[in-house]
Amino acid sequence: MKYYSQELVEEIRSRSDIVDVISGYIRLQRKGSNYVGVCPFHNDRNPSMSVNQPRQIYHCFSCGAGGDVFKFVMDYEGLTFPEAMRTLADRAGVELPRQEYSEEAKQQADLKAQILELNRLAAKYYYYMLRQPAGKQGWDYLTGRSLSADTIKRFGLGYASKYSNDLYQYLKSKGYSDQLLKESGLMQADEKRGMYDKFWNRVIFPIMDANSRVIGFGGRVMGDGKPKYLNSPETRVFDKSRNLYGLNFARRSRKPNMILCEGYMDVIAMHQAGFTQAVASLGTAFTQQQSVILKRYTNEVILTYDSDEAGVRAAMRAIPILKEAGLTARILRMEPYKDPDEFIKAEGAEEFQKRMEQAESSFFFELRILERQYDFREPESKTAFFREVSRKLLEFEAGIERNNYIEAVADKYHLTYDQLFKMVSQTGKKLGDIQKVHKPAPLAKQRRKKAEDGSLRSQRLLIAWMSSDEKLFANIVRYVEPEEFTDPICRKAAELLMEQWKGGRLNPASLFQYFTDEEEQKKVSAMFSDTIPTLSGREEEKALQETILRVKQNSIAWQTEHMEPGDMEKLQKIVQKRREIEKLHISLD
Ligand code: CTP
Ligand code: MN
Repeated sequence: MKYYSQELVEEIRSRSDIVDVISGYIRLQRKGSNYVGVCPFHNDRNPSMSVNQPRQIYHCFSCGAGGDVFKFVMDYEGLTFPEAMRTLADRAGVELPRQEYSEEAKQQADLKAQILELNRLAAKYYYYMLRQPAGKQGWDYLTGRSLSADTIKRFGLGYASKYSNDLYQYLKSKGYSDQLLKESGLMQADEKRGMYDKFWNRVIFPIMDANSRVIGFGGRVMGDGKPKYLNSPETRVFDKSRNLYGLNFARRSRKPNMILCEGYMDVIAMHQAGFTQAVASLGTAFTQQQSVILKRYTNEVILTYDSDEAGVRAAMRAIPILKEAGLTARILRMEPYKDPDEFIKAEGAEEFQKRMEQAESSFFFELRILERQYDFREPESKTAFFREVSRKLLEFEAGIERNNYIEAVADKYHLTYDQLFKMVSQTGKKLGDIQKVHKPAPLAKQRRKKAEDGSLRSQRLLIAWMSSDEKLFANIVRYVEPEEFTDPICRKAAELLMEQWKGGRLNPASLFQYFTDEEEQKKVSAMFSDTIPTLSGREEEKALQETILRVKQNSIAWQTEHMEPGDMEKLQKIVQKRREIEKLHISLD
């Protein structure tokens, strides 16, 4: 996993100030001694992410994401650790040694990097095949669908031949193992035939991530066969819920919006027509993670789903997801055409641009679809409709925006503003009453949880203190040993800090590489981000003394609870320790 020496990692870290780096992705504001910003890893509009400059770490108090500067870049850009190293080294103007790793280290390089490399080779292979005489059928198919040579090149389209083991043979000749080939999703295996290509006799659409790395493939039959599309399965590098087809181009399009379509061909046709902000989900429904990603680049999404019932349903599902991410959505009317590809072919880019400008706001689109379920000739049904509409109006924040919508809706359905306003208020009151009822947790459980939380909180707070200042650290470790932390993560952090301190320098951010598990990393960043109450010198000393005592007492309580019954020696030690604590005088000078 690590190709780079510890020194080099630290060198890059020291030249990549976390506040500078994160500011390049999201807007940070100074708040006290920290910086805060809107977390890019979950749906949010509030600044829940805190970036701590002295410790060089970040942490989101809402979703728990957190880590050091490498972790941020890895997660934001979807990179592996070595790739994040290179990104940050480039940024800092440091030249990394070309091959600091041995042949052996390379062989063992993480699976993710190997699969990416395989995908790159496969994409090149398909691309090459499309341009061979044997690939003529594929070429004719694509150009027959009005794609230019430039477009075909830009999207790296390719062709998988009629034989079902061409790619397999090719990759085997390069020395890749069957195991790896299977993990890549490029091959399938069964008892009878052994390993064979997943894609054959199809045109190939390489699927790229935001950084133009090939993460998977879609393959289409050239004609009417079934299934129309085959897609790579999810692999270590291919997460369908977190990627969008076309995003690598769309993210740089500098357009006022993003266009969300249903298919690969739609995206390609749109880009060819100049709508380079078009993206599509990957043969699956649009997800919450995808909406968060889009929000990084835009505030408005134009939905251009198919004009059939399935398309309407898909749009109805996507709208709340987009709204939740803080995006406004508008829906483009495609009739009489089925999808953007057909529309562009028939009417051209200018007409499409007009339709974009006319696109209907998601709110009125939803109302139009909702209407269908009610019969306006029936008074009861009509009332039920308006009750539902009122509920939707309540989703807008009270104030100008909601009032504007109330006015527009009243206008549309020939009501007076006052009538509708009254209905909305009544509905709001009813909903408010329902929300007030909530179930309290059983009391015993609450109390126990509180005690656990309390001890954990003290341990974390102490770690936060220890990592804040070397002088303080030296003081604290006169009284507390790492073994006294009962929480495994706190203990490991304390041990690692101890090692660093003995080595001459505290470097909290570099601890993250010792916690490889995502959940652990979240806990570590939470721990380092614990705000130490800002107190006057005397008060701080007192608070710290109490925290040290609590951590020590908790350790003894834990040991007592986990002692073998009858272990006299241990018991004596515990009693002894308890006495020591009673007499302990903690002074922090
Ligand atoms: N899709 C899929 N598997 C299928 C059919 C569709 O994964 N059997 C996905 C593909 O990502 C496809 C998208 O759903 O791009 C939309 O499907 P559809 O509208 O049927 O295809 P188009 O994109 O319009 O493709 P074409 O124009 O080539 O028919
Ligand atoms: Mn189509």
